[in-house]
This record gives sequence, C-alpha cells and structure tokens, in this order.
Amino acid sequence: MHEKIIILDFGSQTTQLIGRRVRELNTYCEIIPYNKFPFDDKTVKGVILSGSPYSVNDTNAFKADLTSIRKKYPVLGICYGAQYLAYSSNGKVESADSREYGRAHLTYLNGDDPLLQGIPTGSQVWMSHGDTITVLPDNFRIIASTEDVKAGAYKIEGEETWGVQFHPEVYHTKDGTQLLDNFLKICGCAKDWTPASFIESTVAELKEQLKDDKVILALSGGVDSSVTAVLLNKAIGKNLTCIFVDHGLLRKNEFENVLKDYEHLGLNVIDVNAKDKFYRELAGVTDPEAKRKIIGKGFIDVFDEEAHKLKDIKWLGQGTIYPDIIESLSITGTVIKSHHNVGGLPEKMNLKLVEPLRLLFKDEVRRVGTELGMMPHLIKRHPFPGPGLGIRILGDITAEKVQILQEADDIYMSLMREWGLYDEIWQAGAILLPIRSVGVMGDERTYENTIALRAVTSTDAMTADWAHLPYDFLAKVSNDIINKVKGVNRVVYDISSKPPATIEWE
Ligand code: XMP
Repeated sequence: MHEKIIILDFGSQTTQLIGRRVRELNTYCEIIPYNKFPFDDKTVKGVILSGSPYSVNDTNAFKADLTSIRKKYPVLGICYGAQYLAYSSNGKVESADSREYGRAHLTYLNGDDPLLQGIPTGSQVWMSHGDTITVLPDNFRIIASTEDVKAGAYKIEGEETWGVQFHPEVYHTKDGTQLLDNFLKICGCAKDWTPASFIESTVAELKEQLKDDKVILALSGGVDSSVTAVLLNKAIGKNLTCIFVDHGLLRKNEFENVLKDYEHLGLNVIDVNAKDKFYRELAGVTDPEAKRKIIGKGFIDVFDEEAHKLKDIKWLGQGTIYPDIIESLSITGTVIKSHHNVGGLPEKMNLKLVEPLRLLFKDEVRRVGTELGMMPHLIKRHPFPGPGLGIRILGDITAEKVQILQEADDIYMSLMREWGLYDEIWQAGAILLPIRSVGVMGDERTYENTIALRAVTSTDAMTADWAHLPYDFLAKVSNDIINKVKGVNRVVYDISSKPPATIEWE
C-alpha cells in the first residue's frame, strides 16, 4: 500500500488541482468529502483542507470535526481550509471589504518556517476569496503577509498545522509547488509514487483480485480504454477479451489503424463491423439526443451479443478515471457526466466491474501508458466522442455524408499533424453542416455542402477556448478540402468558446 495524503474536499473548484499537484510531486493522494475522513487508514501521512464556495459564517457551510485530525497528522488548510481552522478555534473570519481576487505578493515571510523554505519575499500568490481572517486565535502565528492580507499564512503553535489564505495549487502562485513540496517533506512522504510503481502494484493487485477469472472490455480507440486493456493484459493475459466495434462513425481508416495497434500490443481483440446496423437504425433521425440514444443502445446490443458468445465471463473492465469518480462523490451535487463510456452495461450483463485506472488523473493515465510502452500516437490522441461523427453530421446521417466528412476531417487532421499543431490543441475535428450554398468552380455554378472546422484549447473540456490557428494553416486546409473533397464548396472556422457554446455542435 502506498502512503498517502488525504485532501478533505470542502467543495472548491480547485480541489482536483490540489490533487494533481500532489501527484505531480510523486505522492499518492485521495480526495475525500470533508466529513468522510478515513480514520482507520494507517497509510495517511498528512491532511490538506481544500477551499470552498461557502463562507465559514454561512449557516449551510461545510463543517468538519477536526479534533481527531489536528495534532495526529500534519495539516495544511488552504483558503476556506485556513479560515475554517481559525474560525473553529475561536478566531474571527469576516467578509473582506473588497473581494480579494487575483495577484498579490508576499510582502513579509518567515524564512525559518519549514512550510516556506526556498520561497523568496515578494513571491507572487493568487487570492480568491470573499472572506478574510480578522482575528487570529492566540496560538496562531503569522508566517507570511501580503499587501492587503496580514494573515496570509500562519502556523499553529504546538502542532504541525498551517493555514494559507492564498491558493498554492494554482499556476499563478509562483512558488505554490515549492510550498506543497515543503508540506510533503513535513509529512515525511517518500515521494515514490511513479507510473512504474503504479503499474507494479496495480498488476499485482489485479492478479490477486481476478485470479483465473475472465474479463471483457470494450475498446474505443481512446486513451483510457486502451491503457486499461494493456494493464489488464499485463496482469491476466489471454483471460482478457477486448471487443472493438466499428459503428461506421469513426474517422477515416481509424478502425483499421487502431486495430493494428491493438494487435501489435498483443491484445486479444474481437473486431466487429456493425456499420450497416447503425446506418440502418439512424436513417432519417435528426434529433441529436435521439441519435446519441440509438448509437449508445446499438453499441450495448452489439457488445452484449459478442459477450454472450464467450463463456464464463465474470468481470467487465472499464476505463473510468479519477475525475469521473470524484464527480460522482461530489458533495456539491454536480451531476455525473452523462457521456459515460458504456453506461448501463454492468447492470444488464450482471458482471462485476474492474476499473484499474479509477484513481488516476488523465495526465497520469498518459504517463502510465507511456511507461507500458504504448505508441505516442495512441497516448496523445485527442478526445473523440463515443457517438463519433454521428454528432458531427448535423441532421440525419447517411453513408455518403459520413464519407464526405471523413475525407474533409482527414485532410484537416493530417495537416494539423504536419504543421506540428496537433499536440497544442485539446481537440479538433470537422463538422458537416446541413446547409448548401452557392459557389463557382471553373465556369460552373455549384450548390454544395459546407464544412465547419473546430479546434479548441482546454484542460478538462469543462471550459474551452477556440484555438487561434495560423491563417496560413486555415487557408491551406480550406483549399485542400474544397479542391479534393467532392461535394464541398465552402469551409468556415468556428470561433466560439465554451461556455456559452459547447465543443461539439450537437
Ligand atoms: P461538449 O460538446 O459538451 O463536449 O462541450 C465536452 C467533451 O465531451 C465530448 N462529448 C462526448 N463524449 N459521448 C462522448 O463519449 C457524447 O455523447 C459526447 N458529447 C460530447 C466532447 O467531444 C468533448 O471532449
């Protein structure tokens, strides 16, 4: 078992970020609702209290009993966490005159304090709170201040407990990683959580858990399901059967190319060509949610049928990752993403679930994949929606439209790779619009389809910015698509950000 840091979640939007920073420092951590501290867990080395959307003075604020945590473990309160420590020790927290938001600098710091080792005076920190500590309890000692916030950071005498009213986890706090690293040092963490150590312990656990049982897994071509498959394959080899369904809505040659990659990785894959079934069921359907439902259900039907041809399957493998789990545990009632890969399958098939990546963040999944020797193009692949081109062909879907879109998309994505832009973009693709417009080609009047190009930058798909692609690049893509793809005479570029637009058009 790995030693760990517990991050008690009081509902802040940056709680996940604290987790990622700690993991980047090669230390395993878990994000737990503020009132669910795992008192029986012997591997806990320290505790971080997160920020919160509430003020400690709100009647419905999240309040945890910290008496059995303080003095037993080193504790670091961040923002609300720091204010709550002060408030629950008879200090005073009040609404700040002006909401303290944005950049500030450490005008004073106590360089002898172990939490602030290596951080210079003047270092930039990021503030984001409406409240501030106005009266510190007697045994709280200020160790850093900013221009406006006297109790920028404090240490509680007689215990290893600290509070910082700024956010060390965000990028704009220049020495935030140093501060978190100092805290891990205080906790005595060995910092040995690496992709290699994760693989070693997970493979051992999977062997123990699964023994000689058989497992099936749906592959999508995406990073999460692919890494899940390779990890399970390492643990149980031929007892893993993967099913890869071609619903006819993948990118050009994607199915064949990814299938080759999977075989190269030694996976035991059943490939199913179900294009006709999907095209048949989708004929004439225009409503986006209806299309999603048909594709989702069709996928489950095909998977179920294939699975029934196999004998003695006990487990269903899934590529669930940590953000999915945190969302489903969320204390603030965030709805779980409705986009879940193969929702509904475990219930229908009466199988037990095995989800070896359930505690990893996306960037960790990629690092594990690389450590497992997977090809960079499989690991760095952009996200691609389960319903595929089905939600990038606006309106009804036909085999002919799929072909037009595949050709246009292929030109776009190939050029993006050629121009070295692919890795800078979170996600990109072409969309076939349900309108025709007039054009001229040679002496002929044309009346053809319009292709929209989409490219966004993002860190988590919750918000996204349209990518400022070079004009020369857009010009080349537009020219090539119009010259080479029969049936297209116009190309436009989508310059909407999310929110209020979404990444996909449907
Ligand atoms: P939106 O369009 O909501 O997309 O901004 C956010 C992310 O989710 C992907 N997406 C889907 N993924 N099934 C999926 O598996 C879906 O129905 C679906 N719709 C959107 C989208 O590609 C982006 O990465």
